[in-house]
Amino acid sequence: MMNDPSAAGPGATAVAHPNIALVKYWGKRDETLALPVTGSLSVTLDVLPTTTRVTLIPGATRDVVVLNGEPVGAGRVGGFLDLVRALAGRGERALVESDNQVPTGAGLASSAAGFAALAAAATAAYGLDLGGRELSRLARRGSGSACRSVFGGFVQWHAGSGGGHAGDLSSYAESVPVGALDPALVVAVTDTGAKAVPSRDAMRRTVATSPLYEAWARTCEKDLARMRDALVHGDITAVGAITEGNALCMHAVMLAARPAVRYLSGASLAILDAVAALRADGVPAYATVDAGPNVVVLCSRGDAARVAAVLRAAWPVRSIHVAGPGPGVTVEGGAGR
Ligand code: ADP
Ligand code: DP6
Ligand code: CO
Repeated sequence: MMNDPSAAGPGATAVAHPNIALVKYWGKRDETLALPVTGSLSVTLDVLPTTTRVTLIPGATRDVVVLNGEPVGAGRVGGFLDLVRALAGRGERALVESDNQVPTGAGLASSAAGFAALAAAATAAYGLDLGGRELSRLARRGSGSACRSVFGGFVQWHAGSGGGHAGDLSSYAESVPVGALDPALVVAVTDTGAKAVPSRDAMRRTVATSPLYEAWARTCEKDLARMRDALVHGDITAVGAITEGNALCMHAVMLAARPAVRYLSGASLAILDAVAALRADGVPAYATVDAGPNVVVLCSRGDAARVAAVLRAAWPVRSIHVAGPGPGVTVEGGAGR
């Protein structure tokens, strides 16, 4: 990678997993600080991790980013490293090497796993030791959804209140209490290509132009309260119904944007139909779709194999991953969250 390996300074490696929102985040009230309009709630998965290594290169004049073995522009990652350098009071540039197991930009939360791993690896490399809440606030600045991948299991991102420093301080993720629940999340990968419109641009357009935006924001606040309740009671049917309803509501608000944002594909619809048919057969299975065509199905762990078989029959999927709730971000040699 480097001509002179002896030039490398301190480094650190972190691993983070994608998270799938059951109550989605779709819209910012402040773009610079990545403050959301509403709170959201997700499950961190135990599959498809991202591993990121940050190595400081004293004397280098720019950051170098290698994603899945390919050099890419430092862009968004460089801007994020600037935040970490400002916090650490240091100036060295860095080499960032990251590997996503999840497809990048396909609506399976690569930005969440990517920026949670980067936040943890970069802070460790620059000698910062942040608590979970502070790390979550920092990861949020890379990608909103990343603040939730800092923690494992079921996680709520609080919208926080106000703008500026008060908004920044109050907008973080934390674990939420869950009753007896043994869920599986069946990830059906139908498309691995990157979406035509990145989440960031699509949500900006939705906030600015969708006539349904206010209704969406109100729906999320209600869904969040109902979801907290359903989780505490371990009520998989209620958790699933709120999840599917919230996801479809998000796609509705996007479809109403001008011009429309459409991520649902023929494959998404075929899988949504197959999930509805499973329910008609008495299997509590519920679908969610992020900003991309790929569908994730929430069900009981005991039903996961049947659900996976039904999804395979519904569409020529590229791969299926049966996930459970997974861990928060870990730094190599450090403790998990
Ligand atoms: P997704 O649905 O995969 O989260 P987004 O549009 O939210 O898609 O984000 C995709 C962008 O996230 C990529 O173009 C890249 O800028 C960034 N990203 C993805 N993976 C990583 C990673 N491992 N490290 C740093 N940035 C990443
Ligand atoms: C549909 O967190 O990827 O997955 O904050 O602009 O980086 P930025 O967007 P991002 O948006 C995620 C949107 C979603 C819903 C969710 O994860 O809550
Ligand atoms: Co994303």
